[in-house]
Amino acid sequence: MILVTGATGQLGSAIVNNLLLQVSPSEIAVLVRDEEKTKELKSKGVQIRIGDYKNPNSLVNAFKDVEKLILISSNDFNDRIGQHKNAIDAAKKAGVKHIIYTSMSMNDIETSPLKPFLADHYETEDYIKNNGFTYTMMQHSLYLDVLPMFIGEQVLETGVFFPAGEGRVAYASRTDLAEAIAKVALSDAFDNQSLPMTNVENYSYADVAKTLTELSGKEVAYVSPTPEVFEQTLKGFNLPEPIIQMSLGFAAGIKNNDFDKTFLNLQTILGRKPQSLKEYLKVTYFN
Ligand SMILES: NC(=O)c1ccc[n+]([C@@H]2O[C@H](COP(=O)([O-])OP(=O)(O)OC[C@H]3O[C@@H](n4cnc5c(N)ncnc54)[C@H](OP(=O)(O)O)[C@@H]3O)[C@@H](O)[C@H]2O)c1
Repeated sequence: MILVTGATGQLGSAIVNNLLLQVSPSEIAVLVRDEEKTKELKSKGVQIRIGDYKNPNSLVNAFKDVEKLILISSNDFNDRIGQHKNAIDAAKKAGVKHIIYTSMSMNDIETSPLKPFLADHYETEDYIKNNGFTYTMMQHSLYLDVLPMFIGEQVLETGVFFPAGEGRVAYASRTDLAEAIAKVALSDAFDNQSLPMTNVENYSYADVAKTLTELSGKEVAYVSPTPEVFEQTLKGFNLPEPIIQMSLGFAAGIKNNDFDKTFLNLQTILGRKPQSLKEYLKVTYFN
């Protein structure tokens, strides 16, 4: 039995849909914390397990009879490492053999401006390894799907305004990453491996603006303001402070080239080229 956590989320639901194309629903379970959100999954015949990363007992019950756990990192940054440790401890108690964890592919977390936000991924990796599980670390690049959050829905009118300098990112789409995780989960070939999962090319924000210009036929400019000007601009939109700090952190990390390395793992596992920046922008802004 394979259990997918975060199955009501965007990555988790796409993983479940990919697994359903290849194995019987009776071999798939999902961890959800809100039964109301399970109608579609239930109708597909997937086993529903109710649990919360913050409630250790709920997790031990939820992970019964599970051999492989696809542990999706929490989206709640309030003691995320504590939540992950709860899940890993519960997996051990329940007799889970193999954990596939959605980590990050970064050059050096120690020198990254994103250390306060993302160091917990590497702590989680260590905790899984130190607890004796078979593991596969799916070290994701930034999702292509985060671009609209950074450049805005109205980017064709506003231009790209983001303090990332000339930093490059090997963005990969959530859809491609989900397909790859399902393939990895159904194979033994990736046991005890850490796999950086990135696109095969990397892109700067100047490339984003250039591609939008090509696709729209109208000039889309790129301005990389100072972090101070960017912060004041976001404050002017009355965005919540944690969102502002997170945006500044990611811009600084990108400028620092934390995510610029490309690897072939994603392309090899998919057996095709991953979705490119241009393909992603086309379906997102021109449909
Ligand atoms: N690499 C990147 O660029 C990037 C970008 C965004 C996110 N991420 C990471 O990747 C993960 C998956 O991405 P996504 O886009 O699928 O995120 P998402 O759509 O926000 O889904 C997050 C999932 O985690 C579940 N969850 C949150 N807190 C939980 C808890 N205490 N106990 C059990 N489940 C909990 C949510 O359940 P509910 O439906 O009950 O809320 C949801 O199913 C994120 O959680 C985040 O850590 C990476």
